[in-house]
Amino acid sequence: MSLRRARGLLWAAMPEPRDGAVVEVVAMRRRHVRHVVAIEERIFPRPWSSALYLSELSSPSTRVYLVALVDGVVVGYVGAMLVAGEGHVTTVGVAPAWQRRGVGIRMLHRLVSELRARGAHALTLEVRMSNRGAQQLYALFGFVPAGVRKDYYPEVNEDGLVMWAYDVDSADYAERLARIAARIASRSARARPDGPDEGERR
Ligand SMILES: CC(C)(COP(=O)(O)OP(=O)(O)OC[C@H]1O[C@@H](n2cnc3c(N)ncnc32)[C@H](O)[C@@H]1OP(=O)(O)O)[C@@H](O)C(=O)NCCC(=O)NCCS
Repeated sequence: MSLRRARGLLWAAMPEPRDGAVVEVVAMRRRHVRHVVAIEERIFPRPWSSALYLSELSSPSTRVYLVALVDGVVVGYVGAMLVAGEGHVTTVGVAPAWQRRGVGIRMLHRLVSELRARGAHALTLEVRMSNRGAQQLYALFGFVPAGVRKDYYPEVNEDGLVMWAYDVDSADYAERLARIAARIASRSARARPDGPDEGERR
């Protein structure tokens, strides 16, 4: 089967967005990677390859990669690297049809919670200067602008905004996460909130 046809089949399997859809956030597995890359190729001008994702998954002691599933189908993904107490969010993506339905916030909540549980005290990421929507999402998690990387995105001729969230191991930050969890729960008409053990289904 051609790669193009395989990609077409993957998209055909993508569930239609609907109110009340159950969004399940679980650890990314090798079997998810081709679905992740199919989304990646739709939403990023310089998509990561399957090989890169597989390489990331082969370092579980320093990496956290998660997918959001609806009806068992990948609709979003996040990833981070954790080194010396600093979590570097490496990727965040949601399939176009599922954007702005609470998938990103749900995945980030889980990612940040896992990074804290593994000892993170600060988090960082880069985002395109013009990507205000993503920046607004990150701001909810306490990320603030901290610098600019010139020409960080040469494929779109854009600088990268460096954002940091500090003291994520503090009680104040735990309260921030609790507020975000409440916000996620209140959106249950759009996507059901995480159950207490959801993260452990692997
Ligand atoms: C950016 C992205 C990850 C956000 O995920 P999402 O599932 O669409 O976002 P959510 O529905 O969880 O949004 C949660 C909150 O974040 C903020 N937000 C998210 N996207 C936004 C946008 N486009 N404009 C303004 N605010 C936005 C809002 O406060 C939103 O809450 P609300 O919908 O109640 O107003 C997703 O849109 C995406 O994959 N975009 C393309 C790829 C990309 O830009 N990735 C980030 C690279 S750094």
